Amino acid sequence: MATSDQVCSCSGLSAGYGEEPVLRDVTLSVRRGEIVTILGGSGSGKSTLLRTLAGLLEPLAGSVRLLGQDPYALDRERRRDLNRRVGVLYQSDALFGSMSVFDNVALPLQELTNLPRSVIERLVRARLALVDVLSVERSFPDRISGGQSKRAALARATILDPWVLLCDEPTSALDPVAAAQVDRLLLRLRAALGMAIVAVTHDVESVRTIADRAVVVGDGRVRAIATVPELELSADPEIRAFFGRGRSRSPTFGEGTWQHEARHSSSASS
Ligand SMILES: Nc1ncnc2c1ncn2[C@@H]1O[C@H](COP(=O)(O)OP(=O)(O)O)[C@@H](O)[C@H]1O
Ligand SMILES: [Mg+2]
Repeated sequence: MATSDQVCSCSGLSAGYGEEPVLRDVTLSVRRGEIVTILGGSGSGKSTLLRTLAGLLEPLAGSVRLLGQDPYALDRERRRDLNRRVGVLYQSDALFGSMSVFDNVALPLQELTNLPRSVIERLVRARLALVDVLSVERSFPDRISGGQSKRAALARATILDPWVLLCDEPTSALDPVAAAQVDRLLLRLRAALGMAIVAVTHDVESVRTIADRAVVVGDGRVRAIATVPELELSADPEIRAFFGRGRSRSPTFGEGTWQHEARHSSSASS
């Protein structure tokens, strides 16, 4: 389906709500199997950019390509086909509380394929095992840990083997152990399925672990797109400070605060 090596890209993109863009002139391209993280302060437009790339928020200007297609120019049927190949993981896991973990993960297969029940069961169990939540397959979302919930949401977002997975803050609100598990899981999913991943995060540990490249947004624009080693040597002192080793305090970036210390303030657990 993808006509080139690029699974997700945008050019001259302005993203936002109403008249005033949150981000302007964003040009980015994500290759097959690549993991790109989107970094920036709170309110800098990370989620807005992700939504626009995911085909969920029409651009104010410029263009978006997902698997070689403009998601905003497709009729319903083609859009449905595209949605099967693009996984989205929302910041709140958005698991349905009235359904078991198993049923949540089975849902996309039931809605978007004609596979028989026996095959769906096998596929779901295999994916639950891959993300290490098979033991809670019969549990409801309010009875499992934050880490398990995130992993189950990842299982649901990837059950159709998407070419690209877009996720918003997959490790925020998790304690360091659960966050590291999710990072390993993203790498495992990439290795197993070859999917590209675009992940919003302000967790510097996560960026170091998973990112092939990082996009840094701030002041209404893209401030850098580079690998972590390149960003560590950035001419922009704020970017350098964020990636510097041995920091004890959270540096500020633009008007927002880089909340990379989220890893050290545990809330939910696995
Ligand atoms: N649905 C919305 N309608 C209008 N403004 C919004 C909406 N969602 C976010 N914003 C605004 O857009 C800006 C960027 O938000 P967001 O993309 O959520 O930032 P981030 O994810 O980097 O914290 C913020 O000023 C926010 O208030
Ligand atoms: Mg956000």
